[in-house]
Amino acid sequence: MRPTQAPYPATRLRRTRATPALRDLVRQNTLTVGDLIWPVFVRAGEGIEEPIPSMPGVNRLSVDKVVDAARMAAHLGIPAICIFPYTDLADRTLDCAMAWSPDNLSNRAIRAIKEAVPEIAVMTDIALDPYNANGHDGFVVDGEIVNDETVEALVKMGLAQAEAGADILGPSDMMDGRIGALRSALEAAGHTKVSILSYSAKYASAFYGPFRDAVGASGALTGDKNTYQMDPANSDEALRQIERDLSEGADMVMVKPGMPYLDICRRVKDAFGAPTFAYQVSGEYAMLMAAAQNGWLDGDKVMMESLLSFKRAGCDGILTYFAPRVAKLLAQG
Ligand code: PBG
Repeated sequence: MRPTQAPYPATRLRRTRATPALRDLVRQNTLTVGDLIWPVFVRAGEGIEEPIPSMPGVNRLSVDKVVDAARMAAHLGIPAICIFPYTDLADRTLDCAMAWSPDNLSNRAIRAIKEAVPEIAVMTDIALDPYNANGHDGFVVDGEIVNDETVEALVKMGLAQAEAGADILGPSDMMDGRIGALRSALEAAGHTKVSILSYSAKYASAFYGPFRDAVGASGALTGDKNTYQMDPANSDEALRQIERDLSEGADMVMVKPGMPYLDICRRVKDAFGAPTFAYQVSGEYAMLMAAAQNGWLDGDKVMMESLLSFKRAGCDGILTYFAPRVAKLLAQG
């Protein structure tokens, strides 16, 4: 039987999809170059751009090349660059002393970038792993990652980075109490303008694999990081982590990895309304690049779609190895 009413729906959701103009008008989320933080790997030497096999298109750069990269990023409008050191084996010891040396690789890179390209914000990573012989983010005593002794070392490491000119410190170690300790040490030392972007909800993830290749930690790591990084099964715990870090003085917070944890991004943004970042980590980058290189996915399109998903999930910005490529694409319109 035919309905007496006209069988046409009053609401046709396709109306606002019909033309580019209508789609522009109703678009809720946009990705801009201002949303990007670019993680880069720095190594010793000069004039070196060394490819990382599990991260196609990403190189380890000597300090002079990192400065060039920062200049290029600034021209593209990328607001921040994040430094990760690939250290010599000789710099990796059990006492991790190189971590707070003013002349370690990342501090030299920070100084060189701030001198040549002062307008770009320089972010750091605070964790002992690049300088730890056993690859852990904290000191290991009798097979255990000790918390409070590690926090003291992390504070020294963060102060050295602030001293070198870093704008944003990124504690990625997941020790308890590190944000409060770092904030008060920064204030006491007069670094009142140095921000903290805390890796607050950092999961014990297998998606960090290519990064560990990039920084030469894959072979070095003894055991896993499950006693300090979060269990991927938990989400309420992420909110407790964020709440604590904000109360201890974090200016911005991060969820990491990104794409498999978009539910966490949304919960964090809704609960706190704080500046929220996601880290699209090395494994996410490697997956998309591998499929694109095989011709199975359209690389540019999945890159843009994956980054837009972070905006939709409530993030204010994204750390991504795609940053310069996205920035160029956005500049082309
Ligand atoms: C080190 C650190 C890691 C990443 C950022 N900082 C690796 C780890 O925790 O083992 C991963 C980033 C990525 O995979 O892109 N504390």
